[in-house]
Amino acid sequence: MKETILITGGAGFIGRHLAKALLERGYRIRVLDSLIEQVHGPSGNTSTLPKEVEVIIGDVRDASAVASAVKGVDRVVHLAAEVGVGQSMYAVERYVSVNDCGTAVLFEALINQPVKRVVVASSMSVYGEGLYRTVDGALVDDAVRRSRRPGEPWDPLDAQGRPMRPVPTPETKLPALASVYALTKYMQERLTLTLTPAYGMEGVALRLWNAYGPGQALSNPYTGVLAIFAARIHNGQPPMIFEDGEQRRDFVHVEDVARAFVLALEHPAAADQVYNVGSGVDRSVRDVAHLLAQAMGRPDIIPETTGQARSGDIRHCIADITRIERELGFQPQQDFAAGLAELAAWVAKQQAVDRVAEARRELEARGLVA
Ligand code: UD1
Repeated sequence: MKETILITGGAGFIGRHLAKALLERGYRIRVLDSLIEQVHGPSGNTSTLPKEVEVIIGDVRDASAVASAVKGVDRVVHLAAEVGVGQSMYAVERYVSVNDCGTAVLFEALINQPVKRVVVASSMSVYGEGLYRTVDGALVDDAVRRSRRPGEPWDPLDAQGRPMRPVPTPETKLPALASVYALTKYMQERLTLTLTPAYGMEGVALRLWNAYGPGQALSNPYTGVLAIFAARIHNGQPPMIFEDGEQRRDFVHVEDVARAFVLALEHPAAADQVYNVGSGVDRSVRDVAHLLAQAMGRPDIIPETTGQARSGDIRHCIADITRIERELGFQPQQDFAAGLAELAAWVAKQQAVDRVAEARRELEARGLVA
C-alpha cells in the first residue's frame, strides 16, 4: 500500500512543489495549512494544489486539527512557519508561537501517533554569519556584524580590522542566531532531532538557503528577496536593495528543494541528520536584481540601493552542499538563468500587489532599518 505523507504548511510555495513531486512518486499526500492571509491573500484558496491532495485547513497550533492531520500518516514534512527575518524582529510573539509552539503541538500529537520519519525545514539563518577567510587565509567561524558607521566596510572584519571573504559554510559550523526567525528555526530543528529518537521515529533537518521559483507569494512583502524584486519590477518599480547590494546568498530553485526533501524522506542514510540545501553557487543581491530585471524584459529598471541595513540580516552566508551530495546523492539541476526566465514567464501572468513600501515603513517606524 502507498504511504501517506503529511505536509504541514503544504499549501505554501515549497509545499505545493513538494506535493507534486511526491504524488509523482506514488505517495498519498495530506496537507495541513491555515492559509494565512499574508501569504495566500484574502480569499486563501487551495486551487493551486494538485486535486489528489487531501487538504485540512487548520492551524498547526490547534491540537485537534493536528491530531486529525497525523491520523494514519507514515511520514511528516514540517513546513508550517512564519518566514520573514525582518518581520520576526517585531512580530515576536507570532513568530515564536507559530514556529515553536506549532512544532511543540505537532510533536505532542506525534508522541501519541508516531510516524517513521519527520523532516523539518530549518534554515541557513541558524548559522548567522557564514564561514569566512581572512586575507591571511585563516578560517573564521564566529564572525559577527558590528554596528557600522557611514563609510565603513559592510563586511565583517577580522581581529586586525580587515574585511574578510565569505567561503562555503558546512553543517559543522556552530549556530549563531542573529534574528528571532533564526532562533525559532533552530528550536524547530532541535525539537525534531531531540524528540524523534525518544519515540522511535527518525528525524531529518534541512537547512535551506534562498528558495525561488514560480509560485512564490508575490504580494507578500515579507517573502524572499527574488519574489519581492519580481513584484516591484512587474509593477514598473525599481527593486530596493539593502546595504550596498554586495551581500551574498545561494538561490536554489524550488524544484531542487523539493528533490532534497524527497531524498530526506526516503534515503536510509538521512536518519537523524542535518543537511544544507542550496545550489552550490553564490550570488550578490545586486547581481540577481539586475539579472531578474533583464529576464523580465525590463533592463531599463535600475535597482535603487538604499545604503540601509535591515536589523537581523546577516551579511553573507553561502552554502557548502558536499554533505548532501555525498551522503544522499543530491544534485541541484536547475540552471539559474533558466530558472529566472521561468520565474519571469510566470510573473508576467500574475497580479502582484506592491506592498513593499508599507512593509518598509513598518520596519522604519521601529528603527529596524538604518
Ligand atoms: C530567506 C527566507 C528565510 C529562509 C532563508 C534561507 C524569506 C522571507 N526569508 O531569508 O525564510 O530561511 O532565506 O536562506 O523568504 N533584500 C533587499 N531588498 C529587499 C528584500 C531583501 O536588498 O527588498 C536583501 C536582504 O537585506 C538580504 C537579502 O536580500 O541581504 C536576502 O533577504 P531575504 O530574501 O529576506 O532572505 P534571507 O534573510 O536570506
